[in-house]
Amino acid sequence: MFDLRDIRFFRTAKYSIIASNFTQIMKILVTGGTGYIGSHTIVDLQTHGIEVISADNGINSEASVLEGVEALTHKKVKHYNIDLCDSAATRKMFEAEKPDGVIHFAALKAVGESMEIPLEYFRNNLLSLINTMDAAAQNGCKAFVFSSSCTVYGNVEKSPVTEDTPLQPAASAYGRTKQMGETIIMDAIAKTGMKAALLRYFNPAGAHPSGLIGESPRQTPQNLVPVITETAIGKRASLQVFGNDYPTRDGSCIRDFVHVCDLAAAHTLAMDYLINNRSEDLISIFNLGIGQGVTVLEAIAAFESTTGMKLNYSITARREGDVVAIYSDYTKAQKVLNWNPKYNIEDIMKTAWQWEVNRNKN
Ligand SMILES: NC(=O)c1ccc[n+]([C@@H]2O[C@H](COP(=O)([O-])OP(=O)(O)OC[C@H]3O[C@@H](n4cnc5c(N)ncnc54)[C@H](O)[C@@H]3O)[C@@H](O)[C@H]2O)c1
Repeated sequence: MFDLRDIRFFRTAKYSIIASNFTQIMKILVTGGTGYIGSHTIVDLQTHGIEVISADNGINSEASVLEGVEALTHKKVKHYNIDLCDSAATRKMFEAEKPDGVIHFAALKAVGESMEIPLEYFRNNLLSLINTMDAAAQNGCKAFVFSSSCTVYGNVEKSPVTEDTPLQPAASAYGRTKQMGETIIMDAIAKTGMKAALLRYFNPAGAHPSGLIGESPRQTPQNLVPVITETAIGKRASLQVFGNDYPTRDGSCIRDFVHVCDLAAAHTLAMDYLINNRSEDLISIFNLGIGQGVTVLEAIAAFESTTGMKLNYSITARREGDVVAIYSDYTKAQKVLNWNPKYNIEDIMKTAWQWEVNRNKN
């Protein structure tokens, strides 16, 4: 367990909210609220005194995640166990709750699986978005925050990417649901009475430093950091590094790992920005990464040096569809939202490992 007096790990509560006007934000609906990023964002919103409603159908999470959230914030979270593809149930929830804003995390997110069951990905990710946006518009919501992804940039030729970097074809059906999701919002927003933020996450990782919440999907995780921690704890025999012959400093792919608590804080700031009407545009797009490319081998080394453990990994052939290198320019989020990510790759590994150890105690 981390030393709870370690101030570094409580910095997320210290992000300055420019307008400090959260009294105006009465209620925010978080879809995908029991998921990985959703649960950390609920903690951040509640820490800023915002009332939160959660909605999730549990396809990739357990409602018991909210026990960890409530232990951290000492506040109850009202939770709806609903499928947002069900338009009637979605509408009913909005009519009952009348939230001021929505953060829409709910989606299926496994890149590989999206190529196995593409229709399910399009159905789930697009229908839940349309239903949520429609019900929000019908019920007087002012702000809509959408979970997008750096996958919308496709196979970029050079990094860092800014929000103006032209989008290339996405490498998977999942990536296309995000490109289409952005397009739907762009086409529809003017008729909804809302303003929207499209947040393009790079590689979310890590866990809350308390060790009480983290990534605990029902599906087998595919992302590098949970695969590292699952290998270290013995759930997987070894870790495969897909290719060490790319034109990068050590031959492995480069990614931009952003701590989930930093990411959570960006959602609170984006909601503040929209609700308090500081945005002149109907749609604002923000990259959320920390602007540092870390190779896969460097990430493994960071895990080993932080935990003192040796990881069993092997180098295998390149994997189809992997982008060689992508990392963000997040200047816009820094300037406009006053978002300053605080955690580095070592913090990510430390908190992810703490979470892995804790969740396997029972
Ligand atoms: N984690 C990443 O690496 C990453 C990167 C970029 C973008 N994103 C996006 O961020 C969002 C959150 O990701 P996450 O990592 O927290 O994933 P997650 O799977 O942990 O959370 C998503 C939640 O949505 C729920 N859900 C899915 N479909 C639903 C539906 N039809 N109705 C109700 N609930 C539904 C799932 O049960 C899950 O709890 C997703 O939109 C994802 O595509 C994630």
